[in-house]
Amino acid sequence: MVKTMEKFVVTPWEVKGEVNYDKLVKDFGTKKIDEKLLKRVERLTGKLHYMLRRGLFFSHRDFDIILNEYEKGQQFALYTGRGPSGQVHLGHLMPWIFTKYLQDKFGTELYFQMTDDEKFLFGQKEKLEETNKLAYENALDVIAVGFDPKKTFIFADTDYAKTLYPIAIKVARLTTFSTAKAVFGFKNESNIGSIFYPAMQAAPCFLPSILKGRNTRVLIPAAIDQDPYWRITRDVAPKLGFPKPAAIHSKFIPGLAEGGKMSASIPDSCIFTTDKPEDAKRKVMKAFTGGAATVEEQRKHGGKPEICSVFQYYAFLFEDDDKKLEERRNACKSGALLCGECKKELAERVAKFLKEHQKKREQAKKQLDKFVVKD
Ligand code: TRP
Repeated sequence: MVKTMEKFVVTPWEVKGEVNYDKLVKDFGTKKIDEKLLKRVERLTGKLHYMLRRGLFFSHRDFDIILNEYEKGQQFALYTGRGPSGQVHLGHLMPWIFTKYLQDKFGTELYFQMTDDEKFLFGQKEKLEETNKLAYENALDVIAVGFDPKKTFIFADTDYAKTLYPIAIKVARLTTFSTAKAVFGFKNESNIGSIFYPAMQAAPCFLPSILKGRNTRVLIPAAIDQDPYWRITRDVAPKLGFPKPAAIHSKFIPGLAEGGKMSASIPDSCIFTTDKPEDAKRKVMKAFTGGAATVEEQRKHGGKPEICSVFQYYAFLFEDDDKKLEERRNACKSGALLCGECKKELAERVAKFLKEHQKKREQAKKQLDKFVVKD
């Protein structure tokens, strides 16, 4: 059975339990992406991206204002990022794929932050040199998604500090410890670097305005766990004379194991972009499904796509055709489609995707210079 009463937790450091996204919208004070907004995006971009059609991006702050300004000829900038604590997995790619769609449709610049400082300060790795190295390895995955080299700027915090630091201290000066504690749960035992870090994640929100010498609003596509950062940034923006950053929030792609999101700390729950296609296939074949205990039972009663990690993979990344996704759902529920077959098909798609991604990732090594900015 699906447990709906289980308590869930969503913070920038922890996502646990079965997430109630409607409750998050209320608790965080964001807005749901409604039909009206979707229609507007459709008018501006043509057919909606499947992540919008399916509500995988489901919530926002001021996305409507971004569109108002865009319609008046005012260009915005995109900002997103990655904490380089290990290899990139397919869950990380999801918002990046959506970000590329936004860049293509709106012709926007993208500022991509690699937080080598964050992953060092919060202890995911012992050595700063290690998170810094990972920043550039992970950048290959970002580039492989296909961003425009002329319009995309990737930076690691410690290598772009001369530009970011003056912005960060302006944010920091306006943010009290009690606010940071309330928003992020810092304790007396927290190291002082981690307490300052939110100012570093806020800084790129104002970077395009500073680099261009004219106010430029940013839109941040990211999973909803990052929203606490944008809350404090939006508070200080007017005091610094900058537009408030807008955000568009995604859900979490579930892990291949039962419950929980894809997590790099549970290697079999996720597929890394650097996994050998054969290993990835093996992980898919072992995945948790919504199938019945026996074939006879499943033929009779059908499977449960709503709790099935394999079905979720199709929905989040591997089936962009709504009609085909519905057919798969119905075939599962009727008992016509068994888990073995469904997993095998997904395994093939995943392997094919990985082969292509890995080729682009190799090519990205030569392009790194075109994307990376340092100071
Ligand atoms: N804190 C994020 C992480 O741990 C990294 C990050 C920095 C980010 N800036 C961002 C994510 C902007 C999304 C949008 O992964």
